Amino acid sequence: HFLRHVESMKLLPSGAGHISHLNAVILGESLATEENDFVLPSNDFADQANVKSPQQYMEMYKRSIEDPAGFWSDIASEFYWKQKWGDKVCDENFDVRKGKIKIEWFKGGITNIAYNCLDRNIEAGLGDKIAIYWEGNEPGLDGSLTYTQLHDRVCQVANYLKDIGVKKGDAVIIYLPMLMELPITMLACARIGAVHSVVFAGFSSESLSQRIIDCKPKVVITCNAVKRGSKIIYLKDIVDAAINDSAQSGVSIDVSLVYENPVALKRVDTKWKEGRDIWWQDVIPQYPTTCPVEWVDAEDPLFLLYTSGSTGKPKGVLHTTGGYMVYTATTFKYAFDYKPSDVYWCTADCGWITGHSYVTYGPMLNGATVLVYEGAPNYPDAGRCWDIVDKYKVSIFYTAPTLVRSLMRDGDEYVTRYSRKSLRVLGSVGEPINPSAWRWFYNIVGDSRCPISDTWWQTETGGFMITPLPGAWPQKPGSATFPFFGVQPVIVDEKGVEIEGECSGYLCVKSSWPGAFRTLYGDHERYETTYFKPFAGYYFSGDGCSRDKDGYHWLTGRVDDVINVSGHRIGTAEVESALVSHPKCAEAAVVGVEHEVKGQGIYAFITLVDGVPYSEELRKELVLTVRKQIGAFAAPDKIHWAPGLPKTRSGKIMRRILRKIASRQLDELGDISTLADPSVVNQLIELADA
Ligand code: WTA
Repeated sequence: HFLRHVESMKLLPSGAGHISHLNAVILGESLATEENDFVLPSNDFADQANVKSPQQYMEMYKRSIEDPAGFWSDIASEFYWKQKWGDKVCDENFDVRKGKIKIEWFKGGITNIAYNCLDRNIEAGLGDKIAIYWEGNEPGLDGSLTYTQLHDRVCQVANYLKDIGVKKGDAVIIYLPMLMELPITMLACARIGAVHSVVFAGFSSESLSQRIIDCKPKVVITCNAVKRGSKIIYLKDIVDAAINDSAQSGVSIDVSLVYENPVALKRVDTKWKEGRDIWWQDVIPQYPTTCPVEWVDAEDPLFLLYTSGSTGKPKGVLHTTGGYMVYTATTFKYAFDYKPSDVYWCTADCGWITGHSYVTYGPMLNGATVLVYEGAPNYPDAGRCWDIVDKYKVSIFYTAPTLVRSLMRDGDEYVTRYSRKSLRVLGSVGEPINPSAWRWFYNIVGDSRCPISDTWWQTETGGFMITPLPGAWPQKPGSATFPFFGVQPVIVDEKGVEIEGECSGYLCVKSSWPGAFRTLYGDHERYETTYFKPFAGYYFSGDGCSRDKDGYHWLTGRVDDVINVSGHRIGTAEVESALVSHPKCAEAAVVGVEHEVKGQGIYAFITLVDGVPYSEELRKELVLTVRKQIGAFAAPDKIHWAPGLPKTRSGKIMRRILRKIASRQLDELGDISTLADPSVVNQLIELADA
């Protein structure tokens, strides 16, 4: 089958950049020698795929680059627009040297994304189709909503929000676990043009309050508590503390809407502030199940999502409506080879971008059936995911390498005792997937039958950027393969010069795509400085990447001071500032270190204020400080105490050396003679396992 396409590809002219590399693969130039590197889709799969061949991809890709306006407006026309966009499909300045960075898609087009997720699908006859299957943390606790029921619930919340004075453009903070109410609330905001800012319910009260202070929401929406695995997390207490903190910075919250989750905590046991706190169940059901749509411009903001950067404060990534809508829908459809009969499960939480684009918007814009799982993936045991897959006949399963590695460690038995016959496509996101985890996922979970879409993208990109299209071409375990339609990835050297062919360097993107973020909330200058100034003329991703001789892309991880722990982005500076906030900690330097399950672990070097002895108790306090200030997921795996840190004569901490010490690559320390005091290095090594 594949070779048949190889034959047909010979007729295609080779294009620029990666196209010529792909041609080489398709032409079979390297296939003969490297056969074992490739995992080919079965004929059956390729025959039914949305994109069936490399040739079809190439034709679509070429058009998306040569005629982006035509390509994307054809797709956009499948959605409902109250009014069509103006003359320009895309208006951009991507080059800081030419002025302010600006990205606009479908400007002047009037639409509503929630309308396109719900009303449009219902009108097309999907009203009785299941929109959400919900599976609770406790086996046996579940629920579901059809598209019509989801529409009705969304309208009730939308009406309530309007009633308490939330208007178009106002921010709403959502701090909810994976209940159906989370996507319901997101869609309710979108329906009335309010800007949602979902905060992952694993963030601490301090992180939450930082976000409240930054975007000043009209209301905070939460639930009293949630059970995750066997642990109860008292979310409302966290929200209460965050609201108190925010008030001290002059940002007051008048309404806190609280969903009652009786499985975790009874109403009578919930701490309450009359006048501010309102039970969801007391108000929402009283509202009408229809709500007029607030029509918005394609460039009106849809949501804010805070993410970590290499400097201290989290950044509010701002996405707008029209381009994001078109992009998430299209990437979902092609990267997962979506068919209307699919049951789709993404294990990500809506508190991260993956849950925005690929739990809520992308799938629902396609009228898909989405499974939302409240609990921990290994509760009550490591077989839970496959139990759920069998129960709902999940056909597309999208998760993170960290979960794959952890389940792999628990043994095949937990997987093979379930049928998993319904699965047809697997997906991976959040960090590079190492080839051995890839093969386990492919062979054991997918019974060597299901292609894996290893999707590279970011909070900033809104949707997939480099991803396999299952069925279209052979895969290589561990490679995200080729760019999505309309995306032009380039690899540059440290001077910002584009490198061709087999190479490695910094991953950038040339010109915009519809799902790109438009700014950092309230800080356009930081937007330009972080993403567009490092390599003028390009968007800089912060990731390293190499391209092999066949043109396949291999992501190699962050090249900035961001670490990726279990697929969660954490700025080293954030952890450092949490550590030094402890009165006994004088200085902290945090680096990432390889971790078997988490991908990267957090390794913190610290020095203490004069005269304070280091102890186990203090170690625990320091870890707790980070948990409290950021969240449990940011807790350091290792605290390495030392009397001094390696610094240059100008006082800069040499992280390069710390990284080597952290990973115990002691013979690769390099030149340490430029240090102000080279003897600290030996001291550090001696204390490494103290
Ligand atoms: C990393 C998550 C390799 C990368 C969608 C990126 C990946 C950061 C992959 C963004 C992948 C995400 N292969 N690395 N398939 N997917 N990353 O903003 O370092 O939470 O810059 O978005 O995760 O993380 P974010």
